[in-house]
Amino acid sequence: MDLNQKEKDMLKGKYGVGVANAMKILVGIGDAFYAERMVEVSRVHISLSNQEGDLWFANKLVEEGARCCKIATVNPAFNKEYFENVCTFTEQELKVFEDTMSAYRKIGVVPTFQCTPYFVNNVPGFKEIVAFAATGASCFVNSVCGARTNRESSQSALCSAVTGLTPLYGFLLDENRKADTLVEVEAEVKEDFDYQLLGYCLPKKIYTGVPVFHGLSHRPSSEALMNLSTQLNVHGVIPMFHVVGVTPEAATLEDALQGEKPKRKVSITKADLDEARKTLSHGEGKIDFVVMGCPHLTIQQIKDIAAMLEGKKLKSELWIFTSCLNKELSKRMGLADIIEGAGGRIVEDSCVDQPIWAHLEGKKGLTESPKCAYYVSRRKMKLIVRSIPDCVNAAIKGEVN
Ligand code: F3S
Repeated sequence: MDLNQKEKDMLKGKYGVGVANAMKILVGIGDAFYAERMVEVSRVHISLSNQEGDLWFANKLVEEGARCCKIATVNPAFNKEYFENVCTFTEQELKVFEDTMSAYRKIGVVPTFQCTPYFVNNVPGFKEIVAFAATGASCFVNSVCGARTNRESSQSALCSAVTGLTPLYGFLLDENRKADTLVEVEAEVKEDFDYQLLGYCLPKKIYTGVPVFHGLSHRPSSEALMNLSTQLNVHGVIPMFHVVGVTPEAATLEDALQGEKPKRKVSITKADLDEARKTLSHGEGKIDFVVMGCPHLTIQQIKDIAAMLEGKKLKSELWIFTSCLNKELSKRMGLADIIEGAGGRIVEDSCVDQPIWAHLEGKKGLTESPKCAYYVSRRKMKLIVRSIPDCVNAAIKGEVN
């Protein structure tokens, strides 16, 4: 790669061993992808995980003196307060949780512990070059914000946070952002939940690429676009998408295709969505719990849930995952009182994909998120996927129809 003098100095260790090692990794990635040079990033999001390898890497950079020079938010971690009474953890597990939080604080991240930073405290603008890890978040900022990021790993994003740089390749370049797949949406896609199904269906047809959705009959809400960005990357690898007339690089279909012909054309029909609904939503009878918020629920979604729960008592457990900011807002708005008064719990800073469900293993539950169902299936939990209103009604009745 063609490095400038400052970048060469970073690589040689003038700015410390941690920065030198971070640069070495970024140069290695750049070389692998034939990047000609580095570019500055303005902000970073890191998919922190409570795993030993991730902790080892963060600690190594901390000990070598590296510190974030850019705003860097982090994914959810683990909130001991909610789970210590319902799960048992080994000392080793607790140590990894606590050491991870400590290492990331020392390196200087903004400890948001949330997976939708693009809504509140890390919102990139159009054409801004950033380094975002977390597949749903990177897809959202590429597609909906029109910012430019590759699908970073936790480690490469951390390297960008401490150097302020990323190699110039992939989705930072105009030519790689053009749609290669035209998706004609023939089904009616209207509710936010329909976008969960759309995000589930499409990867089964194309797996990877840059799709452009054409023919949507209704404008998607922010929550719908959040659902789509997330679910496209559960069974597929879709770093960005366009929606004609909605996302910033797709004012027209021609814009999204950058004047070229699509390489593939697929359609999403009513039968596709019905099939997805049947596969994901199948199940009835008594339930033990409902878990929602993968990705973290927005304040609008929490408000809708509270409206349904006013004056009600839940017959099943209800777990709602959200950011600390939304949790605070829900308290200020009186929503937390309603939800907790009904027997539900609003959990901030945490993620459904943590070893926190021992008490629910083997029990029957519901979620609004196909991603959540997929992740927790590794923990011997089988979840039925329904819309948020259906999930709330099921939690009230203790059963699903
Ligand atoms: Fe967020 Fe964890 Fe789901 S990071 S998207 S709650 S798997």
